[in-house]
Amino acid sequence: MKALYFTSHGDVDALHYGDIETPTPAPGWALLKVRAASLNYLDVFTLRGMPGIKVPFPMITGGDCVAEIVEINGEPSGFSVGDRVLINPAHVDDKSGHFEMMGETRPGALAEYVTARTEQLIAMPDVVSDADAAALPVAYATAYRMLVTRGQVAAGERMLVLGASGGVGTAAVLLGKLLGAHVTAGAGSEAKCQRLIELGADAAYDYSSEPVDAYTKRTTGSLFRGGGFDVVVNFTGGDTWAPSLRSVKRGGRLLTCGATAGYDPKTDLRYVFMSEMDIRGSTGFTKDEIAKCLGLVAEGRLKPVIDRTLPLSEAAEGVRMLRDREVFGKIVVVPDA
Ligand SMILES: NC(=O)c1ccc[n+]([C@@H]2O[C@H](COP(=O)([O-])OP(=O)(O)OC[C@H]3O[C@@H](n4cnc5c(N)ncnc54)[C@H](OP(=O)(O)O)[C@@H]3O)[C@@H](O)[C@H]2O)c1
Repeated sequence: MKALYFTSHGDVDALHYGDIETPTPAPGWALLKVRAASLNYLDVFTLRGMPGIKVPFPMITGGDCVAEIVEINGEPSGFSVGDRVLINPAHVDDKSGHFEMMGETRPGALAEYVTARTEQLIAMPDVVSDADAAALPVAYATAYRMLVTRGQVAAGERMLVLGASGGVGTAAVLLGKLLGAHVTAGAGSEAKCQRLIELGADAAYDYSSEPVDAYTKRTTGSLFRGGGFDVVVNFTGGDTWAPSLRSVKRGGRLLTCGATAGYDPKTDLRYVFMSEMDIRGSTGFTKDEIAKCLGLVAEGRLKPVIDRTLPLSEAAEGVRMLRDREVFGKIVVVPDA
């Protein structure tokens, strides 16, 4: 089958589009034909290599996909050959705690065929398109868990999202608005800010022209006089972390699910204790959280932001665009005609 894969860590030029052996499903697993996949920053990290994560080679990148069941090996599962399903890319073994992620520790979605345990399959409502569903698991379900399950964002709260133009970022903006929050979206250019306002953000600001703490003070007032945001969402880390601490209102929450620009930033404990803030980590999603996002799309309350759709043979260019911060929302990948 055709796939986008790499045999050693590197940059985008380490990605190859070519033939690789079609997988066979183990007992309890299904073989599926991919209909649509989507890219995430995860693909850039996995390609580069992350400390502590062992990537088996050859690795087919890609965490998200909608696929059609071709074969089921084993017990009746409630699914049939020909069903269109969304795959939960993450799996935790309840007994051993062993964690597996498609496109990171086992072969991923940027291929013509994938395998998955039948328990990882999620039934697809007819009204949801392949592309919209394929955009959901890693970006939208992660944002859902961070904002709803962990963050408990409530109507009327003032929320600031940094990195708002990306996959998790646009998801956080849309979900924040659904929750009734007042959403300020931070992005790295005026053009992205304009698009975030068109998407529904109440305010947008370009952090390439003003540090986040200065923006917070200018627009909400001094932290010592009630200023700051109730909720700050920061999955960028790096140099943005300490200024984000200085943007949380007294008693507020700082939510994080990632560290695009660096995982060991300088911090400032004075702001953590003086503001009596909660720093809440959130990682991944459950199958139920993916299903919740799928339900919102089926009800017409959530429309994933898709920048463009690329054929599998050109998906490496999509990974390059993510690396170079040229994407607004998500890139969907479909098999070549
Ligand atoms: N823990 C989990 O389970 C989990 C799940 C999903 C994602 N994540 C993490 O969440 C983060 C966002 O993922 P994503 O897929 O949404 O990525 P993405 O689509 O590439 O979006 C990231 C956004 O962050 C901004 N950014 C700021 N500084 C950056 C930098 N130094 N390098 C790259 N982008 C930078 C970019 O917007 P501007 O150019 O406008 O600044 C970009 O749009 C990643 O760190 C990812 O690993 C974690």
